[in-house]
Amino acid sequence: MLQILDWLKNIPIPFITNFKVYFDLGTSTTRIAVKDKGVVLKEPTFLAYNSQSKDYIFFGNEAKNILGKTPEFLKIVRPIVNGIVSDFDAETALTKRFIEKSISPYTAQFSFLAPPLEALAVFPIIATEIEQKAVEEVILKAQCSSVTLIKKPLAVAAGCGFNVFSHKPNLILDMGGGLIEISIVSGGGIVTNKTLKNAGEHMDKLIANYIYLKHGVMLGEATCERLKLECFNFTGQEKISLVRGKSLENGLPKSVKIRTDDIREALLNNFIQIVDAVKELIEISPPEVVDEIFDSGMYLTGRLASIEGLEKFFSEELKIEVVKPTHFADAAIYGLSLLDQDKDTIYRIASYSRN
Ligand SMILES: Nc1ncnc2c1ncn2[C@@H]1O[C@H](COP(=O)(O)OP(=O)(O)OP(=O)(O)O)[C@@H](O)[C@H]1O
Ligand SMILES: [Mg+2]
Repeated sequence: MLQILDWLKNIPIPFITNFKVYFDLGTSTTRIAVKDKGVVLKEPTFLAYNSQSKDYIFFGNEAKNILGKTPEFLKIVRPIVNGIVSDFDAETALTKRFIEKSISPYTAQFSFLAPPLEALAVFPIIATEIEQKAVEEVILKAQCSSVTLIKKPLAVAAGCGFNVFSHKPNLILDMGGGLIEISIVSGGGIVTNKTLKNAGEHMDKLIANYIYLKHGVMLGEATCERLKLECFNFTGQEKISLVRGKSLENGLPKSVKIRTDDIREALLNNFIQIVDAVKELIEISPPEVVDEIFDSGMYLTGRLASIEGLEKFFSEELKIEVVKPTHFADAAIYGLSLLDQDKDTIYRIASYSRN
């Protein structure tokens, strides 16, 4: 009987053929991928709530683009905070919209009955059981028929090209918008892990504080992020950005020239904290693991790893080779699609699975 079912599943009949979808519900970026099609959506985890119509009206890029410029009745909502679902309804509305936008074109061929969506999703190590359940519920409510949860560092390790079951340990530093996750992965599990919350979005706040104190100018979140993207690097290259904010003296618009050195000064301490956390993780790891890690180096992932010269900075501070793999920015979701190539792999590493 089971064999017949397996055979039937391979026939493209809409209600029998499952559609495999991968989710990384990140603090700054939501990523969705489809089996054999790659990443089909990468948009900001932002949406706008209209308090007059009591409805969400802008999603993803549309919502992020109006950040800081909305009328009073429009509120920008950030449903994921430091990697955790903090606004369940908003996150469900956003995920539903993103699925409609990115997956419907692929399921449209099944004109009279859409196939069930079988989801694989990552969650950060620090998520409690209830917080993991929230990820699962969001995905189920967003019209998926089943969901399997995988610990994010395992997916990231696969995305770096590692065999997660190998007993050769690998050190990964995943740097996103809400979390810095430092993990040593080996033998299908996580040997040690340390998570910090001073990630990309915290850095934008540090930039805002610094410019407020040094130049007496208040800058919006979006401007601070732009400064980080345009001006900041660890290569020694100097750049200058002209930004406009609100003067502390008279509340009027004021332009200031911000240099790379300013941003470095604002963020250096934050990066030193990350270095210290990696050192602490190495200190608490077994000696054999440490030895092998120094052989293979540290892998940098997450979009924050795009900062130029970051590999050199970490390498000098930690005295270890630092590698940025090809798919560093989308390592988690890319890793999910690789892990899913083998059913047994998912079965062995899944944290939670529900229909
Ligand atoms: N080119 C760039 N240079 C530096 N930082 C960047 C660049 N592009 C994006 N970022 C920053 O990377 C962060 C977002 O990274 P990413 O999309 O990997 O986060 P996320 O996966 O949503 O978050 P998390 O995994 O922490 O939940 C933001 O703070 C953003 O400003
Ligand atoms: Mg991430």
